Amino acid sequence: MIHIETKLRQALEQIAEVKRILCAIEFALQKQECATLLITSAVQGEGKSLIAAALAATAAQHGNYRVAALDFNWYRPALHRCFDRALPHSLKALYSAPLSELVISFGPNTPDLLTAPEDYADQSALTDQAFPTITRLIGQAQDSYNLIVIDSAAVFPTNRMMIDPVMLSGIATGVVMVVLSAVTPKQHVRKAQKIMEAAGANMLGVVTNQRMISGRK
Ligand SMILES: Nc1ncnc2c1ncn2[C@@H]1O[C@H](COP(=O)(O)OP(=O)(O)OP(=O)(O)O)[C@@H](O)[C@H]1O
Ligand SMILES: [Mg+2]
Repeated sequence: MIHIETKLRQALEQIAEVKRILCAIEFALQKQECATLLITSAVQGEGKSLIAAALAATAAQHGNYRVAALDFNWYRPALHRCFDRALPHSLKALYSAPLSELVISFGPNTPDLLTAPEDYADQSALTDQAFPTITRLIGQAQDSYNLIVIDSAAVFPTNRMMIDPVMLSGIATGVVMVVLSAVTPKQHVRKAQKIMEAAGANMLGVVTNQRMISGRK
């Protein structure tokens, strides 16, 4: 039985909306054999991780395909919390092991999960190997899964420790930008979109997140 964070459970309870978003994403990606979806946002804390987890969980539950959720926000990792897991491996393990040895499998109809490394905060451990490693892991995921959902960092502020979502967008087949409704300034969203587009990202659209307060939307 998969253990999911309460907020992820709440997100899944609004299944109609998550399914609709997924439906639009599937349409935009034209039923490719393997779709790699990058979830990002203009600024931090807009709900990327929660929405990435909800999309991956819903796709695995309802779709007839294999799904992986990859946490490539090593700056502020969170996917493991959505699935109630610790961070089981080090950056060194990520650098050398194949994806199949790193993912957590929950069983049928649930996404496999690649968490961020447990020593993500160790600046000295984050070397030039990071980006080639991520490219390799995504390539291995593309050989094994039909849908790959990548949780990434926000576009702003840029940070040396961040795996840049703009660079990841070149590997993804589609990019979804999460916007926290009535909170994120429009100019930040536009600027982030422009930066992604200039880097060649296939922008699929924006998901508007309304943070629920006391169980209400
Ligand atoms: N729709 C929502 N309803 C309730 N809580 C939410 C909602 N969306 C996000 N949250 C909560 O807001 C916080 C930030 O969400 P989340 O971690 O998904 O954002 P993020 O964009 O991934 O942040 P970061 O930039 O740090 O990676 C979390 O505690 C999450 O559970
Ligand atoms: Mg996050």
